[in-house]
Amino acid sequence: MSISKILSLPTDLAMTSKNISRKGQNIIAVASGKGGVGKTWLSICLAHALAKQRRKVLLFDGDLGLANVDIQLGLVTQYDLSAVSMGKVPMTQAIARSDLGFDVIAGRSGSGSLANIPLSRLQLIFDDLQLLCSQYDKVIIDLGAGIEKAVRLFAQNAGTLLVVCTDEPTSLTDAYAFIKVINTQNPQVNIQIVINIAGSIKEGERTYSTLLKACQGFLKISPPLLGVIRRDMHVRDAIRAQNSILQSFPTCDATVDVLELVNKIP
Ligand SMILES: Nc1ncnc2c1ncn2[C@@H]1O[C@H](COP(=O)(O)OP(=O)(O)OP(=O)(O)O)[C@@H](O)[C@H]1O
Ligand SMILES: [Mg+2]
Repeated sequence: MSISKILSLPTDLAMTSKNISRKGQNIIAVASGKGGVGKTWLSICLAHALAKQRRKVLLFDGDLGLANVDIQLGLVTQYDLSAVSMGKVPMTQAIARSDLGFDVIAGRSGSGSLANIPLSRLQLIFDDLQLLCSQYDKVIIDLGAGIEKAVRLFAQNAGTLLVVCTDEPTSLTDAYAFIKVINTQNPQVNIQIVINIAGSIKEGERTYSTLLKACQGFLKISPPLLGVIRRDMHVRDAIRAQNSILQSFPTCDATVDVLELVNKIP
């Protein structure tokens, strides 16, 4: 995805964003721009860690193109967002319970049918989700890669937007471009940075500093660092076992880093 392409996006959602009241203050959306940087894995970790703190949590699969929260969790759900979108069931009926102590609304795995959903239908889904928010302490939305309309709608209207980035140059440029688009359309969004798959905490902080300089220099904003998560082979093992790393490997580097990061979430 080239930056020039991203920067000439249609402004359809700018209006949408203005029309929505800031109801979803307890929504934490997890985005990145570039794919494969650990958004889904981190979303599950956040949901699990917050649930362990006895908070009532909903994990919403907002990756409408390649939904896979249910796969990473090994969760079989009766209904998913696709059923909600087709009007078969209300969103409340699509809520499943994970053994890990939080609720889940699954997307539709392995099918692109929700990827091209019209904006009006997407808006209805988001309105339903905002209504549900009042029943939870925190709602985590796992977003897809890129900057499609669903990603922008959810990201712009989240109380907190976590932008996950790695030290790869393409991840950095995509994260910057993503931040620029969201900040241009809604400067109120509370953007925070997570550096994932870092060689060390120090290296992660250096990666953050590169991204911060670009944000300060060109956008005049300074999104804070929520945390650095180190590269850890246990992440892959936990995903393969379809379990939360907090449960499978409670003392590994990535778990330690995630727990530290979660403690900074109010
Ligand atoms: N801290 C980490 N250490 C090592 N590997 C990691 C770490 N975080 C994520 N990964 C690896 O990155 C891969 C991608 O993770 P994940 O599916 O969560 O990314 P994603 O950003 O949601 O991808 P997509 O954009 O396709 O939705 C995982 O298979 C995992 O092995
Ligand atoms: Mg994902």
